[in-house]
Amino acid sequence: NLGVVNIPVYVHVVYSNSQQNVSDQQINAQISVLNNDFRASNNDINQVPSEFAGLVADSEINFTLAGTFRHANSTSAWSTNDTVKAAYPPVTPSTHLNIWVCNISGGILGYAQFPGGPSSTDGVVVLYSSLPGGSAAPYNQGRTLTHEVGHYLNLRHIWGDGRCKQDDFVADTPSSDGPNYGCPSYPTVNCRSNDMTMNYMDYVYDACMYMFSTGQKSRMRTILQSGGSRAAL
Ligand code: ARG
Ligand code: ZN
Ligand code: CA
Repeated sequence: NLGVVNIPVYVHVVYSNSQQNVSDQQINAQISVLNNDFRASNNDINQVPSEFAGLVADSEINFTLAGTFRHANSTSAWSTNDTVKAAYPPVTPSTHLNIWVCNISGGILGYAQFPGGPSSTDGVVVLYSSLPGGSAAPYNQGRTLTHEVGHYLNLRHIWGDGRCKQDDFVADTPSSDGPNYGCPSYPTVNCRSNDMTMNYMDYVYDACMYMFSTGQKSRMRTILQSGGSRAAL
């Protein structure tokens, strides 16, 4: 048992205008959201329906800002082809979570690299306006980063990116037939069970996602353990 794991974070702000050059205060607020969500100290956790309340997990993973790098660049929007990472490479990605905050084209809120990928592109990219207080409402409470760091720590979408039989490799997240959007009412039934729509790994609004499950916690912590693909963090 590792106890609480602290993951140091480097933030790369890549901007072409002043809106994209998010403030230190916004970055700190984003790290707070990340910590509250991963430690189950988010103030909306009491909205979890009783069916799932026993599955709410404090992942015992904590994030500390280790440095912020700011880069002015004339590119007004980056695609998901990792050119932003090529322009500003990750700093010691085996020991630090690298986060690029920038404008992303195509209406994408963020994307992440799963464990086991190339170190040159390791980390997560989030839309600058998805940070808390940003302009990407209803995706402006910082939960895009929570979702993306979930992927970075090996979590799949709760519908497994397939139909009912496609697993997310987590036993306590009920089988689902596809993403849920908006702010679903409870219960939302798919695959003969109630979907855990309020899970960070669904596609709902920021205000409508507020939990990781015990099974997700254990999947994340497995890769942080000795011999795991992110043990050096
Ligand atoms: N679509 C993106 C992904 O799958 C991010 C989804 C974030 N959702 C949110 N409510 N902020 O990685
Ligand atoms: Zn995702
Ligand atoms: Ca499952």
